[in-house]
Amino acid sequence: MNRIAPRALPCGASRLTSSRHTGVLGQALKSHAVILGAAGYGGGELLRLLLGHPNIQAIRAVSKSQAGQAVWITNPNLRGFTDDAYYAEADWDSLPGTGAIVVFSAQPHFELAAQLEELESRWASAGIADRVTLIDLSGDFRLSNAARFEAAYGQPHPCAHRLGSFVYGLPEWKAPEIRGAARIANPGCFATALQLALLPLHGLDLGFVAACGVTGSSGSGALPSETAHHPTRAHDFRAYKALEHQHQAEMEGLLRGQGITAELSFVPHSAPMVRGIFATVQFRLPDGLDEAALRQRFQAAYGNAPFIRQVDGSPRLLSVVGTNFCELGLKVNGRGAVIFAALDNLIKGMAGQAVQNMNLSLGLSEKTGLWAPGVFPA
Ligand SMILES: NC(=O)c1ccc[n+]([C@@H]2O[C@H](COP(=O)([O-])OP(=O)(O)OC[C@H]3O[C@@H](n4cnc5c(N)ncnc54)[C@H](OP(=O)(O)O)[C@@H]3O)[C@@H](O)[C@H]2O)c1
Repeated sequence: MNRIAPRALPCGASRLTSSRHTGVLGQALKSHAVILGAAGYGGGELLRLLLGHPNIQAIRAVSKSQAGQAVWITNPNLRGFTDDAYYAEADWDSLPGTGAIVVFSAQPHFELAAQLEELESRWASAGIADRVTLIDLSGDFRLSNAARFEAAYGQPHPCAHRLGSFVYGLPEWKAPEIRGAARIANPGCFATALQLALLPLHGLDLGFVAACGVTGSSGSGALPSETAHHPTRAHDFRAYKALEHQHQAEMEGLLRGQGITAELSFVPHSAPMVRGIFATVQFRLPDGLDEAALRQRFQAAYGNAPFIRQVDGSPRLLSVVGTNFCELGLKVNGRGAVIFAALDNLIKGMAGQAVQNMNLSLGLSEKTGLWAPGVFPA
């Protein structure tokens, strides 16, 4: 896709170490993207965003299930933007000899972990290992502890010795680590919303925190399932995985890392909408923290964060769906505090955040290819 002749990297910008890029890549860089699991919803959103990204020169969309099929047949919104078909294999040997290569894995949990070492050995044989940035959209490398991974995902990790070797890609809190990182674990959609809501409370003991998250049906991926089937979903609303969702472990790790003590009680809900995460987090204000101090913490944390919009009262899914923005709102009444977060699960909760991570990793402005409002009304 977008195949034009490769351009050399700026001087001193091309070489990566095994886990870090050694140079800062400039705005003029033209990179190659490879998407594994490209025919899913995450793959489709990556394609849409990367086709319009000024620093991406070519995209190789790899799909086992759709190999040979034109991309616009599975993604009709891309008709006229690409005539390419899905590749059956990435064919690492045929990638160009210069330029950064950004590999996005948009596969189900456990898939990348099972393939990682084989992939890395293929990149080494193809002579591209030092130019690859790998961004995983699944939960495979978000946790660093094998026992916690097994407890959260119900099976042992297929490549446990590599846990902890990926940078956790939450740009608003991990930008220094993401810049130049060659292995990035993209956060989960609920985890993104809840962590963005809670992390400004760093260093505090919050006690019991009640967290409710609502998701649309695209959170279950492109394959039809009973829980995403229109007749049984369109007029329904229910909780699921109450107190045992796999993102809980992911959130607890970063909260602990920021010195937040909290007994997090997370209940996800499935709502009759296609896109969106709406999270509501309630707690008692700790002693010494009032509303002004709470607002000041959010301003300090996100005043310069391009994709965080702080709103009065409740955020609206309508104003973030189709965008990489997360809207945060807060309200205090007496000692009771509530923080709301709204984002598009397929964009800020997934593919958009992955592109934001790519931008940071390659030394680009994090807004590149992502700075656009949504549609209104949706
Ligand atoms: N949906 C969300 O809101 C969301 C948000 C954040 C993170 N994620 C995570 O991102 C990843 C991709 O999610 P998605 O919503 O794009 O999923 P999806 O629509 O189900 O597609 C994932 C792709 O994975 C491949 N795949 C599906 N089932 C497979 C199987 N049993 N074995 C091997 N490969 C299989 C297919 O790839 P081919 O194209 O090769 O056939 C498919 O296109 C998942 O790990 C998911 O947990 C999802």
